[in-house]
Amino acid sequence: MYQSKIAGLGKYVPENVITNDDLSKIMDTNDAWIQERTGIKERRHIKKGDGNTTASMGAKAAKIALERANISKDDIDLIVFATLSPDYYFPGCGVQIQEMLEIHTCPALDIRNQCSGFIYGLSVADQFIKTGMYKNVLLIGSENHSGGLDFTTRGRSVSVIFGDGAGAAVLTRSDHNGQGVLSTHLHSEGKHALELSLKGPSTNHWVPEIIAENKAAGDESQLEDIPYYPYMNGQFVFKNAVVRFSEVIMEGLKANGMDVSDVDMLIPHQANLRISQFIQQKFKLRDDQVYNNIQKYGNTTAASIPIALTEAWEDGKVKEGDTIVLAAFGSGFTWASAVIEW
Ligand code: UT7
Repeated sequence: MYQSKIAGLGKYVPENVITNDDLSKIMDTNDAWIQERTGIKERRHIKKGDGNTTASMGAKAAKIALERANISKDDIDLIVFATLSPDYYFPGCGVQIQEMLEIHTCPALDIRNQCSGFIYGLSVADQFIKTGMYKNVLLIGSENHSGGLDFTTRGRSVSVIFGDGAGAAVLTRSDHNGQGVLSTHLHSEGKHALELSLKGPSTNHWVPEIIAENKAAGDESQLEDIPYYPYMNGQFVFKNAVVRFSEVIMEGLKANGMDVSDVDMLIPHQANLRISQFIQQKFKLRDDQVYNNIQKYGNTTAASIPIALTEAWEDGKVKEGDTIVLAAFGSGFTWASAVIEW
């Protein structure tokens, strides 16, 4: 049985910075509320005409990860792309990035597990490398949220949280036994699927139907529930998140005969700074053992962990021999953890 390791990391975020004050000019919100409830100060949004899409941001992050891994695109055996905001309904972003990076005809797989998407993808990559079927896997998490959020006061509890960006990792077969991905643990609970969801357009709520509904309403701003904007039962999601984050982190540590004292760095999915702080306190971790950057980027869903991991690595906060724990929770519900010996 082989072992996989992360050989290179990259990130890309659009240049366009949107502060809380910028949002307060277009909806009834304010910097104090957003910072107090979420810790977010600003986020990045794609600007019309800047050429960024979910796939193209992913390609930019992937290029950096490939360079740093010193692995040629010709040696990639599999592309795994995680997003909830693909450029097209179909095909997925995996094949688009294949074309953008001129990667040969390897398989391209799309992952639809929202905030847990990157760890789900990491687990898929790890399994293929472990069995020896593939040696090098390009894994991307990327999101264009800003194109699909409700920036009126009606949508404020969701739209202030999310931001755009992409992160990527190149996984390769590890030469050193014990170094690399030690375990991944994945979970989901479909009974809460609609608590954080975007219901349309879909085959259940098809475009002509939506157009007809809007026409009937006359003025869209009068509609309370618009299926093509994300819905989130915020407090319910929050309560489940803190429980599942804790469980899945402990599950990962226990599987490796470790406990919290073995963790050098926890990189949680950047859902809400208050969730990260809750976990930090619960596990009695120091500030330098938990990496957060939601303050700058908001919640970038499948991109948040690879962006945070890339930044932590760039800052020298992820070093050889360190035990790194990744953990995520989000829509589905889905949740997951990965324990990595760097
Ligand atoms: O990544 C996927 C996983 N996602 C998460 O983990 C998110 C989990 N949930 C959360 O982070 C929080 O629930 C939110 C940050 C989304 C919301 O915070 P909350 O403390 O649960 O606020 P709330 O929705 O209960 O709203 C409290 C009040 C309401 O006003 P009233 O009814 O008390 O008068 C809202 O209308 O705050 C109001 N409000 C806002 N006010 C200013 C909601 N959004 C805003 C806003 N600005 N942006």
